[in-house]
Amino acid sequence: MNRHQIICLCASFIVYIYKVEAIPQRDYGARIIGGQVAYAGQFPFAAAVHVQTTDSKFFCGGALTGNDWVITAGHCVYNGVLFTIQLGSNHLESDDPGRVTIATSTYILHPDFNPDTIENDIGLIKFRRPVDYNIYLGPVYPPEFSLQDDASVYALGWGQTSDTDPELSNELRFLLIRTISNAECRMIYGDQITDNMVCAIGNYNEGTCIGDNGGPLVAGYGKYYALVGVASFVSANGCESLNPSGYTRTYPYLEWIQNNTRQDEYL
Ligand SMILES: *[C@@H]1O[C@H](CO)[C@@H](O)[C@H](O)[C@H]1NC(C)=O
Repeated sequence: MNRHQIICLCASFIVYIYKVEAIPQRDYGARIIGGQVAYAGQFPFAAAVHVQTTDSKFFCGGALTGNDWVITAGHCVYNGVLFTIQLGSNHLESDDPGRVTIATSTYILHPDFNPDTIENDIGLIKFRRPVDYNIYLGPVYPPEFSLQDDASVYALGWGQTSDTDPELSNELRFLLIRTISNAECRMIYGDQITDNMVCAIGNYNEGTCIGDNGGPLVAGYGKYYALVGVASFVSANGCESLNPSGYTRTYPYLEWIQNNTRQDEYL
């Protein structure tokens, strides 16, 4: 069988505020195709992360976990020099109430992150000072149990809304998608899919390419959300192809996340 390639395009696309420089013939990672515009405060943990490395600038999604950490993809922090993080607002550009902008250079990349295979694609960004929560700004945490196959989950992000439109969306979008088993995902992508990844699909071409790189994949439990994944890769066939998109599961990294983000008072 012909295996499809996966692409994370680590540190590869250039973002100017919310314009992405379009580079032909390549694919730049997960984005929201379809979906709905989120209402203010619906996902108070959603973080827009502008990343600067020594030689590039690009955009990632993230999720606030605790009051001084954002969890994102490993390839979003890899070689990072400066992170400008916007919280508490659904808009990339606005003067929404609740909006907070943070600049920091401190991050923790998972020690086993492999930029070639996209394994262990998870990282944490630390603020210099904690943020205050408000109704538009609050944390989300990884679940203390493993994510199931065929689970309904939401992908969120400001990513491109189609393969042909290189601009980010000014509004946060979300999309209900469904996880598939890793066995099913390996039938499409082969052994590149490790147990610490999860693939998800939507209706027709909708869910195939969702959320920004590093953006949250969440499951609803009552009125709470749990952060079950972090957007990691998409099909090299393009975002609007029918292939699933890939996420780093958070559960296998729970101890690593807790060890690193634990507040000083718990140490
Ligand atoms: C978490 O911290 C404990 C106690 O220091 C240590 O034994 C364990 O190996 C750590 N786990 C990870 C995944 O970092």
